Amino acid sequence: MSGADDPAIPSEPWALLSAWLPANDDPDRPQITLSTVDSRGEADARTVLLSEFDGNGFYFHTDALSRKAAHIDANPAVAITVLWPGFTRQIVIRGRAERAPDAEIARAYASRSPYLQQLAWQNTTEFAALPTEERERRWAEFGLAHAEGFDQPVTWTGFLVRPTRLTFWESNALAASQRREWALDAGRWTMSYLAG
Ligand SMILES: Cc1cc2nc3c(=O)[nH]c(=O)nc-3n(C[C@H](O)[C@H](O)[C@H](O)COP(=O)(O)O)c2cc1C
Repeated sequence: MSGADDPAIPSEPWALLSAWLPANDDPDRPQITLSTVDSRGEADARTVLLSEFDGNGFYFHTDALSRKAAHIDANPAVAITVLWPGFTRQIVIRGRAERAPDAEIARAYASRSPYLQQLAWQNTTEFAALPTEERERRWAEFGLAHAEGFDQPVTWTGFLVRPTRLTFWESNALAASQRREWALDAGRWTMSYLAG
């Protein structure tokens, strides 16, 4: 199990993460697959944006009332898949999700586009069930009423995924694809090579 006392991501996988992923200030955020397990042990997955990453792990943001947040409440074990176009690269991260610090959650909201900030307010089941014209009318009305900008909604939240395993898959047109994997066991990171 990973936790706040575990060592940060070691230098070798950190170098790969820094080379492969866009920097945190790049507005073009990676689209990642977040897999969770619910309270009945059923798996689920969806796409989210990777908001940022640091030596502790990987941050994403969502609605506190969402299914994924309920899954994490019941079971913090998650996996993240980052895929590059074509048969090029993939990173699979296994780890445990915990609520991100308040300041990080606020920073992520502030750095979202106005569209995504508004979405965090109006992305409700009730809104989703309205006819398209009504959704467009209410969307425009809400935008006009908040022309000065959006405050952070109370349901906006974020998670830090502390990795327990980091697997880097890379293709090679001249040889078999290959994985390099770092796994955390009893507080120590070990590296191994795996077939692609
Ligand atoms: C490209 C893309 C990016 C997305 N980014 C996010 C995100 O950063 N946070 C989020 O909560 N949902 C995001 N979504 C929506 C989720 O995929 C999902 O539909 C929603 O969060 C509800 O998931 P849940 O019911 O499993 O909690 C994104 C969807 C797509 C297609």
